[in-house]
Amino acid sequence: MAAATRRPCQTFLTRALLRYSATRSAATMGSYGSAVPQRRPAASSDQLINLEYECSAHNYHPVPIVFSQAKGSSIWDPEGKKYLDFLAAYSAVNQGHCHPKIMKALKDQAENLTLSSRAFYNDKFPVFAESITSMFGYDMVLPMNTGAEGVETALKLARKWGYEKKKIPKDEVAIIVSCCGCFHGRTLGVISMSCDNEATRGFGPLLPGHLKVDFGDIVALENLFKEKGDKIAGFLFEPIQGEAGVVIPPDGYLKSVRDLCSKHNVLMMADEVQSGLARSGRMLACDWEEVRPDIVILGKALGGGVIPVSAVLADRDVMLCIQPGEHGSTFGGNPLASAVAIASLDVLREEGLAERSAQVGEELRSQLRKIQEHFPDYIKEVRGRGLFNAVEFNSKALSPASAYDLCLKLKERGVLAKPTHDTIVRLTPPLCISSDEVKEATKALHQVLEVDLPELRKEKAETKNAHESHHHASTTCDRCGRRS
Ligand SMILES: Cc1ncc(COP(=O)(O)O)c(C=O)c1O
Repeated sequence: MAAATRRPCQTFLTRALLRYSATRSAATMGSYGSAVPQRRPAASSDQLINLEYECSAHNYHPVPIVFSQAKGSSIWDPEGKKYLDFLAAYSAVNQGHCHPKIMKALKDQAENLTLSSRAFYNDKFPVFAESITSMFGYDMVLPMNTGAEGVETALKLARKWGYEKKKIPKDEVAIIVSCCGCFHGRTLGVISMSCDNEATRGFGPLLPGHLKVDFGDIVALENLFKEKGDKIAGFLFEPIQGEAGVVIPPDGYLKSVRDLCSKHNVLMMADEVQSGLARSGRMLACDWEEVRPDIVILGKALGGGVIPVSAVLADRDVMLCIQPGEHGSTFGGNPLASAVAIASLDVLREEGLAERSAQVGEELRSQLRKIQEHFPDYIKEVRGRGLFNAVEFNSKALSPASAYDLCLKLKERGVLAKPTHDTIVRLTPPLCISSDEVKEATKALHQVLEVDLPELRKEKAETKNAHESHHHASTTCDRCGRRS
């Protein structure tokens, strides 16, 4: 559907850009050294969106705004229009865009050494390893790049530990339990736990040995552990479910999970890729209940929004289940990423970003709750911890519009937010955002609900244009059978 709307508006310049790319690849084919570097012509947002649509896989459905420059919590598009970032690249930019200390670490390191591969040592990774393990109180770290790789690593570690230390018979499957509604990334191993049919259908067969339990349901977890505990290697969970719509578990859940995992000798594995590193108002979301998981997975903001860096933290008895040759990554622990990660962690601490997230998050939620009082029919719930927040709308009151439409309207008013599912808008700005910027954003949301939404609903109802591919009828999860 998007193709039909975008292709006709392809302009001359876009086609020129496309031709340019084609010529360039032909010119460079087989003779990379001889191609003459050329300057690309400056392109508009529309041209760039069209170019991407033509040349890149269609695996995303972005809000149509092109980032051209960014600083702190502000974004500029190629036309020079300024926006407030309320997504922070899914928490990868907790420290703010282009943070000077992180940029300096990147540039300084890039001039000296970027990659050794772990076939050799380099002089930055050991320093990063010492810094991250002492900061989070674990014996050892295993470095990777993306969040999904971090999760894959943790899954492999848990299975290895399950067979070697827990003595799960090798001819049986060491089970991993995960939560309904979870999101842990996009690799085949990781989607094997996904409750999102779009993420799994057509990619089978998925990995065996995964069992599901409702997030926040400690009784269900206990029953599962009682029934199959001797075959379960690990329980993987997000302490706050991000992609599910910033879902916060009931008070005491994390502590009870800790107790159950200890009792049944199951590894407690916290995926803090999105919730960690100050996002929720604590350095780790598990800190809200002062629990210490056996394995912590970090990513996103570990790279300061600059470079993908992920890490798996564990103590020696778990980590040393993996021996040389059994797992690795060419780029994991590279000196450039290590230098950036050291600076990224320093910034979180030096600028007190966890405390700041807690404080500004309170301000944001209190303003959102006032909006909810004003529009009780539209807004079902305002929830969050720190600057990890979501507004859930009543689907009936919103219909035929959706959270995606609201995000389009917010964008027109200078605020960039992301929908999740059809009725939830996530509000997760960089943690350096100011109180005034938060007020600016909530004012924009108020205006969207007061001015834009009634118009939008009318327009949509008249055209019966049941909006783009994002609007889904309710479905039943292939894995857990739950209706969404
Ligand atoms: C909790 C969680 N784990 C893992 C991932 C995957 O991270 P990446 O996209 O860097 O692979 C994400 C991404 O959103 C996430 O939210």
